[in-house]
Amino acid sequence: MNRKGILLAGGTGSRLWPITLGTSKQLLPIYDKPMVYYPISVLMLAGLREIAIITTPEDQSQFQRLLGDGSQWGISFTWIIQEKPEGLAQAYLLARDFLAGAPSAMVLGDNIFFGHGLPEILARADAQDTGGSVFGYHVADPERYGVAAFDADGRVTSIVEKPKVAPSSFAITGLYFLDGRAPELAASVKPSARGELEIVDLLERYRAEGTLQVERMGRGFAWLDTGTPGSLLDAGNFVRTLQDRQGMQVGSPDEIAFRQGWIDRARLAERAKVFAKSSYGASLEAVLKE
Ligand code: DAU
Repeated sequence: MNRKGILLAGGTGSRLWPITLGTSKQLLPIYDKPMVYYPISVLMLAGLREIAIITTPEDQSQFQRLLGDGSQWGISFTWIIQEKPEGLAQAYLLARDFLAGAPSAMVLGDNIFFGHGLPEILARADAQDTGGSVFGYHVADPERYGVAAFDADGRVTSIVEKPKVAPSSFAITGLYFLDGRAPELAASVKPSARGELEIVDLLERYRAEGTLQVERMGRGFAWLDTGTPGSLLDAGNFVRTLQDRQGMQVGSPDEIAFRQGWIDRARLAERAKVFAKSSYGASLEAVLKE
């Protein structure tokens, strides 16, 4: 059964931008394009063409205005509302009908991935029919994330959410490949002390039955988060530095759709016109000239 995508773009991003002040943080730009383009690009790189986008009720219309129905990229979006940010695992309950038993890849709307070999890593995770695959990434401040603990043989013994003392330096990134049982298993997760259905508790179900793969993303990868004003600026500078040096885009859904063969040249040319005056548009023109 074809894997489906979930983009979780609800929540407030409260350390950055309280919802009462305006828009979702995932609609803010990272350098020259909206933040949400980057995680969507990851799902598209994984080859997923049916994607559910989960937002707050207030934000849904703004996301729809930005992203449309997906046909501009040869994909389709299904819109789902999360009334309150009651945890990442809740996404699987909300997406149960959309998934209809299919395996999924869920990405958080504020996670940015970049690195040589990313399509291959995604393809490996996609190829796994049963169980789950998540990605461990070495960070300087693991206490801010879900963190994996390993035994002497390198097997994962637990994943803990924001531990006071981190059992390793490997944070679990916001990209989760789970099999078709995810909604059913999520239904057995109870709210944590902070009142959320924790993704780590859902992952624990898979780990306990021995079907959770934790693939380490090496130091050649960049995994950036955008949760604070500083990290938002850093992510923008990172994207700018790479794009200016290479003359290629990071996180361009239009380019990926074209390279995947989901849109033709004529469609890409139309899209380049839409963005004519921006560097994003110029990059699409450059792809057309290749
Ligand atoms: O970024 C990776 C980390 O994401 C993982 O290592 C953690 O295990 C995971 O819990 C999560 O931690 P965060 O502290 O970053 O979670 P946060 O509450 O900031 O939410 C992450 C994104 O998901 C954010 O853009 C808001 C959105 N969200 C969050 C919740 C709790 C929702 O859309 N709905 C929600 O219910």
